[in-house]
Amino acid sequence: MKDNEKILILDFYGQYNQLIARRVRECNVYSEIVPFDTSIEKIKEISPKGIIFTGGPSSVYEKDAPMVDKEIFELGIPILGICYGMQLISYSLGGNVQKAEKREYGTTLVNFDNTSPLFKEFDNQNECLMSHTDFVEKLPEGFVKIADTSHCPIAGMANDAKKIYGIQFHPEVNHTKNGTKIISNFLDICGCQRNWNMSSFVEDSVKRLREKIGDKKALCALSGGVDSSVAAVLLNKAIGKNLTCIFVDHGLLRKNEGDEVEKVFREQYDINLIRVNAKDRFLSKLAGVTEPEKKRKIIGEEFIRVFEEEAKKIGKVEFLVQGTIYPDVIESGGSGKGQTIKSHHNVGGLPDYVDFEEIIEPLRDLFKDEVRKTGLELGIPENLVYRQPFPGPGLAIRIIGDITDEKLEILKDADYIFREEIAKAGLDRTLNQYFAVLTNLKSVGVMGDGRTYDYTLALRAVETSDFMTATWAKIPYDILEKVSSRIVNEIKNINRVVYDITSKPPATIEWE
Ligand code: XMP
Repeated sequence: MKDNEKILILDFYGQYNQLIARRVRECNVYSEIVPFDTSIEKIKEISPKGIIFTGGPSSVYEKDAPMVDKEIFELGIPILGICYGMQLISYSLGGNVQKAEKREYGTTLVNFDNTSPLFKEFDNQNECLMSHTDFVEKLPEGFVKIADTSHCPIAGMANDAKKIYGIQFHPEVNHTKNGTKIISNFLDICGCQRNWNMSSFVEDSVKRLREKIGDKKALCALSGGVDSSVAAVLLNKAIGKNLTCIFVDHGLLRKNEGDEVEKVFREQYDINLIRVNAKDRFLSKLAGVTEPEKKRKIIGEEFIRVFEEEAKKIGKVEFLVQGTIYPDVIESGGSGKGQTIKSHHNVGGLPDYVDFEEIIEPLRDLFKDEVRKTGLELGIPENLVYRQPFPGPGLAIRIIGDITDEKLEILKDADYIFREEIAKAGLDRTLNQYFAVLTNLKSVGVMGDGRTYDYTLALRAVETSDFMTATWAKIPYDILEKVSSRIVNEIKNINRVVYDITSKPPATIEWE
């Protein structure tokens, strides 16, 4: 990572923290989210160009409210506090924070003082998202008011001499019109050069990986998904044949997918690739299993077993490469308050059997769209880079009930038709996930003069940005009609097609 220019985002458990990091990066400045109680020594060591305090659910007067060491205001590093972050600055520096009678939530017209460098070239009135109960009632010494609303007397404050700023609204969300401009102005205040982009990331990473790995060997588990593919190609660029990739094909991938991945890796990159065709092995372990979590567990464990056997054949490797990305890092370091709805990760934990010294996670600082851009930068074909997310347990959780080879083939073919028609209609980039599910339901139909008794296939398509919530996609009827008629005509054993019109919540995206 570029060592010279970084914005540090202190996390006070706000719900939009990842968005703040993204907005900063969109301005070509690298940003990183760290816990609010990161020590001053650590912050000095990182030496960021600027610091952002996020919003958060606390009130500064609560017992155990997250605080900062006041020394942070003396480091000479510009600071921007958002929502709770602003209240915290005010509270810490001797201002006064009050509780409003009512929580203010929604977009509000904010009046801006455009002479402030934070609002340079910004409209003097703008719709902004507010979400708070507390507000700054009295400014700390040295600060001036730079924004207000009809409900909130101080919606923005500044101490230009110390380059410390606070805003009560959220510039990072789309509901705040042109909010990125405010973040960009803050980056100017920080004196950022804005030289972060994906090609500098690739260049830096390759250099650092080479230095770190030298002539030693690395092993990478390829799932065929975007993250592990990009990680593998990056490593290949850095260390060439000293990287070995093991691609465990569990037979539960989409139609042709395993071959496509193999082709790119072998032909385009000439990567040391071991493909293990383990479909029979997985299907025999899964025979008769109907419970979704059990399916996931079996697949996760078997994946590790197969990988382990292959790795043993290679002997000692010094490094194990994983395709961990930034949201995974944030999630696993998160508050842990969430409830497990589904156990998501296919490869559960680390393969402790492989003889390696260190794990390398070359993408751990990147968001998904940055991983895709890195993939393109490395020359990975677009259709691979822009593939929709695909769950680790694959089609096993899209066949409701027990899994058989026959059902698997039916689903692969049906899903292929759906994907083909969606691509033909040009919807493949706008729908975030779309797939077929083979339900366990058989129903009566009529084909020619005869009665049929066959499977019902469900189509699922959603629009979402974070996959935590999703709305069902309003695919035009004529496209659904085409998909349905092709599926019942071309695929034996399906005589009925239904479209899932449930959003998440209450439904999940996958059916199992
Ligand atoms: P749900 O069904 O929970 O899915 O709404 C949200 C996103 O997660 C993917 N998903 C998985 N990914 N292993 C994975 O790697 C899994 O076991 C798994 N289950 C769901 C799902 O495809 C969607 O993108």
